[in-house]
Amino acid sequence: MSGAHARVVLATRNAKKVPEMQAILTEAGIPAEVVGLTGFPDAPEVPETEPTFAGNALLKARAIARHTGLPAVADDSGLRVDELNGMPGVLSARWSGSFGDAAPDKDAANLRLVLDQLADTPAERRGAEFVAAAALAVPARAGDAGGRDAGEDAAAEGIALEDVVEGVLRGRLLDHPRGGNGFGYDPIFVPEGETRTTAEMTAAEKNAISHRGIAFRKLAERLREVL
Ligand code: IMP
Repeated sequence: MSGAHARVVLATRNAKKVPEMQAILTEAGIPAEVVGLTGFPDAPEVPETEPTFAGNALLKARAIARHTGLPAVADDSGLRVDELNGMPGVLSARWSGSFGDAAPDKDAANLRLVLDQLADTPAERRGAEFVAAAALAVPARAGDAGGRDAGEDAAAEGIALEDVVEGVLRGRLLDHPRGGNGFGYDPIFVPEGETRTTAEMTAAEKNAISHRGIAFRKLAERLREVL
């Protein structure tokens, strides 16, 4: 595959992630256009059933590559809290469960639960990290005979090539929320070397250091090789 206008689908309906990925590719000098799923209304909703961020990102990238016939990038992310043995992890978006469903703001309910769970945890044991996995799946071209699948794995059927990378942002958790930007656990997360929470940073400041930014920039280097 080559050419100045290669298209890459980002497996998200979040309109903010598309320009973020586009800016990373443009900065890296990769001549590709990033499109989101808004142009693919029939794209499947892919349940995040894997126990790892990498596994879930791959599931989504493969499904969207198969559906669109285009190289697809997908991410999965969350918060790992040292004191909670790495949880909420892949459960970050659903941590408060059905209690959160009843709350007006699920993100706030998830954040509140983590704060409650750490209520007796002193500052020196409040380490945590944001983690993001970013996956790339390139579909086998129509007419390609067998033998081009990414692996023996049946889940990778119809995929010519795939890769997955991770980005990590270490930090610590406050005992009360601060800041109005960002989403999710941002108001209680202070990155290493910072005094502000990621909810007190601009989007550009956060993207420059974030787990997702790190993962997307790593994946851009892989995309450079395959586009
Ligand atoms: P995903 O959309 O399945 O990747 O779920 C990510 C979940 O992890 C979100 O709902 C947030 O709770 C949390 N999360 C991931 N990245 C961030 C971040 O950058 N800031 C705050 N929370 C995050």
